[in-house]
Amino acid sequence: MIKKCLFPAAGYGTRFLPATKSMPKEMMPIVNKPLIEYGVEEAIQAGMNGMCIVTGRGKNTLMDHFDKNYELEHQISGTNKEELLFDIRRVIDSAHFTYIRQGEMKGLGHAILVGRELVGNEPFAVVLADDLCVNEDQGVLAQMAALYKQFRCSIVAVEEVPAEDTHKYGVIAGQMIRDDLFRVDNMVEKPEPGTAPSNLAIIGRYILTPDIFDIIEDTEPGKGGEIQITDALLKQAQSGCVLAYKFKGKRFDCGSVDGYIEATNYCYENIYKKDQASKLAQQQTSKK
Ligand code: UTP
Repeated sequence: MIKKCLFPAAGYGTRFLPATKSMPKEMMPIVNKPLIEYGVEEAIQAGMNGMCIVTGRGKNTLMDHFDKNYELEHQISGTNKEELLFDIRRVIDSAHFTYIRQGEMKGLGHAILVGRELVGNEPFAVVLADDLCVNEDQGVLAQMAALYKQFRCSIVAVEEVPAEDTHKYGVIAGQMIRDDLFRVDNMVEKPEPGTAPSNLAIIGRYILTPDIFDIIEDTEPGKGGEIQITDALLKQAQSGCVLAYKFKGKRFDCGSVDGYIEATNYCYENIYKKDQASKLAQQQTSKK
């Protein structure tokens, strides 16, 4: 039902300087795969096939990554290295990629508004690729898309964080509908220490109904002088309905060095090694 996924990827990634001076943060690898590819795979698993990427200056490698590299393909064609491109080929063949540039960095809300031209007038998902989410069965977006079918309103993914970390996030307050679901009635972007309305922090997965675009247009710059999606979502919650969903799975904040290292170790042990073992087993079976 939700076909498009928006990836705001125009930010400077200053916490990762100097690595991000000329390389997009979204292209930083977790083991052997760039962050954004994990996000795109999650969207594909949720049944989406329109990947709408909001880029900025110095982000051209993002476009190259989701395109064929004929020279490289020719070079390794027929060798045992060819299989290293299988996963990305599958991704490229399963989705359609469109891009738009955010001329000025005016905040996440503004980046989402810039994506309007690619998304059009339909509900859509948003993935912040530097939040890497993993779950063994159903990915976080697939969980949220299923909820959207039932409730037909905007949904934000939330996670409980320690009280001393709430100032780093958008934080919600709401009425509990069931163990893992809240109807939002308040939302604060990066609350001052000690003032957060709860410890439920919004992470980088959203499903938004398209009326959010007009709401963002009418939203003044907020915290940090940026147009905040949290402020627009609060207005949407006050005039209609926004849900907050405590997702199943693990989330790594790969925009921070600690989270990035944690994600790398986790994915190496739990995804990469298992993947290698199953490929080896397949090869051995096919040789027999
Ligand atoms: P962040 O603030 O986490 O990312 O924005 P950043 O600015 O790239 O990183 P730091 O804080 O300087 O290290 C959250 C997401 O919103 C996008 C970013 O690319 C990131 O995915 N974003 C943010 C935009 O696309 N445009 C903006 O104007 C701001």
